[in-house]
Amino acid sequence: MAAVPAWLLSSLASLGALYVSAVAIRFLSYLALILRRPKDLRCRYGSWAVITGPTAGIGRSMSLELARRGLNLVLVGRDPAKLRDISETISSTHAVQTRTVLFDFSLASTPQGEKAVRRLREAVEGLDVGVLVNNAGVAKPGAVYLHEVAVEAWVRMIRVNLWALTEVTAAVLPGMVERGKGAIVNIGSGSGSLLPSYPLYSVYSATKRYAAGFSRSLAVEYRRKGIDVQCQVPLLVETNMVSNDVKGSFVPQFVLAPDAYARDAVGWIGHGTLCVPSVAHRFQAWTISLSPDFGYDAHILNKHLQHRDIFRRLRPWRKNSQGNSRNGSVDVATQQDKSGVCSEAPTSG
Ligand SMILES: NC(=O)c1ccc[n+]([C@@H]2O[C@H](COP(=O)([O-])OP(=O)(O)OC[C@H]3O[C@@H](n4cnc5c(N)ncnc54)[C@H](OP(=O)(O)O)[C@@H]3O)[C@@H](O)[C@H]2O)c1
Repeated sequence: MAAVPAWLLSSLASLGALYVSAVAIRFLSYLALILRRPKDLRCRYGSWAVITGPTAGIGRSMSLELARRGLNLVLVGRDPAKLRDISETISSTHAVQTRTVLFDFSLASTPQGEKAVRRLREAVEGLDVGVLVNNAGVAKPGAVYLHEVAVEAWVRMIRVNLWALTEVTAAVLPGMVERGKGAIVNIGSGSGSLLPSYPLYSVYSATKRYAAGFSRSLAVEYRRKGIDVQCQVPLLVETNMVSNDVKGSFVPQFVLAPDAYARDAVGWIGHGTLCVPSVAHRFQAWTISLSPDFGYDAHILNKHLQHRDIFRRLRPWRKNSQGNSRNGSVDVATQQDKSGVCSEAPTSG
């Protein structure tokens, strides 16, 4: 057998060394990011935070965590009674101020939505807003094929998850630019950024992918103006968004309590453009990345089809509304709200 030329061996060795160094550098910078100390948000960015969807789940827990770290809060939500409740809870447990702004995000881009944006601008006028958390989101109507619900349901989801997020950011950014500092956190989802696909939740995961893409470009755009933009991508957190009916189908160790998630999430503010705040979720995403896409796709489709079946069995009314929706006369998401039966989407991620 002919001997391998020395020049080829040394080229291969150099390439190998380059590759190992690149991997080591990436690993060490990642380690540094994980081990870094959380920022003092008040000193670094400003004394107020604006948070959307603070009335339940992740948003409620993040509001309390931000208040615990000394930030005053502008709470933006659609339900006056729930806003009052979270505002009173914060004021009674932490020495911070709160303001509330009523904004139903499903009305973004309508005249009422424009009024709400004006209210938000007025509320933040003159405040030292250092942090914005765009958290509000919906996964309704849950696990369904795209053609099974009236298009209005998808429009509503896009308005809440994507349009309102953009409008709120545009309303809060000018003050941050003026002050030359700020942090914007958009709550995306593993379904849009970590997983190869999310069938039967295609619009939901696509809106979450928008949050990630929007954040990535804004981060570059505003870095030199002193503003850190970040998209946080959780996998499963135990909130109203994850229905009790399908909770049993998840590995419990990977489903986080909102308070635990919020502690990690607030600690990550200002560190990295795209982050998975919880260690459990990072590990879960890594295990998923080991399987080939076609295997994962088949598994996730089957799982979501099971969720869809469970919901169809539990909520037979849905079938009727689907029938009507094909004529364009019934909006399934509105029916769900009115019936009070389905205040939750089957699952999210
Ligand atoms: N839970 C998960 O597993 C998971 C995973 C990945 C990403 N996420 C993302 O995390 C964020 C928070 O979700 P969550 O799990 O905490 O859900 P949640 O418990 O259902 O809370 C959603 C929040 O958004 C608000 N909201 C919903 N529709 C709104 C509208 N039309 N106008 C204004 N506010 C509205 C809700 O207000 P009301 O209290 O008035 O309903 C509530 O405060 C979402 O962006 C979601 O996509 C969640």
